[in-house]
Amino acid sequence: MTRLAVFASGKGSNLARILAACQQGTIAGSVVLVVCNEPGAGAVGIARMAGIPVLIADHRDYPSRVAHERAIVHALDEHQVILVVLAGYMRLLSPFLLGYLYDPRMKQSRVISIHPTDPALYQGPAGYAWAIATGQTATAVTVQYVDEGMDTGRIILQEAFAVLLEDTVETLKARGQAIEHRLFPRAIQHVVDRMGSRLSCAAS
Ligand code: GRF
Repeated sequence: MTRLAVFASGKGSNLARILAACQQGTIAGSVVLVVCNEPGAGAVGIARMAGIPVLIADHRDYPSRVAHERAIVHALDEHQVILVVLAGYMRLLSPFLLGYLYDPRMKQSRVISIHPTDPALYQGPAGYAWAIATGQTATAVTVQYVDEGMDTGRIILQEAFAVLLEDTVETLKARGQAIEHRLFPRAIQHVVDRMGSRLSCAAS
């Protein structure tokens, strides 16, 4: 079982789907820690209801980004986390945290994230609003590895879908999130498989 940490800042609908997929066995892993930088976020309640340890680390309480990430690394270490999943976590990770999670065999950090567009076209958190504001006729949901840039990591899975003429940000987001909830657990399992085969290659 791969030990996962989910980082979230918002309502936590992706967290809920990841927890369900772990329980159903479609992800061969278990969420051993939830990290949240927004004390009032819905994700905190979802984690607590599921009995999962939560680290609430409000970045405004720390003197620097590295001090904030040091507290997070301490918890990752304590819970022996292997893979970090950013599910609506509204902070960029610094080289310090990415370095802690760097896996030389995979040649990248063991951190993945979900993005509500095609990151080649738009980087940032407001992907659904961007697609409406710029008149896109199609958009995408993307799961990718995380590097030091904003949404610049290697793509793991991506699903495109149409933007309808009558769409508002809300209707587009509702359809996009339904895709997120399907795609993210699949992408996590894909990475878990890849990590597993790397580990057995290294052992043989
Ligand atoms: C998702 O739309 C995701 O694409 C974006 O943040 C949102 C998180 O939603 N990065 P939730 O908190 O999982 O409901």
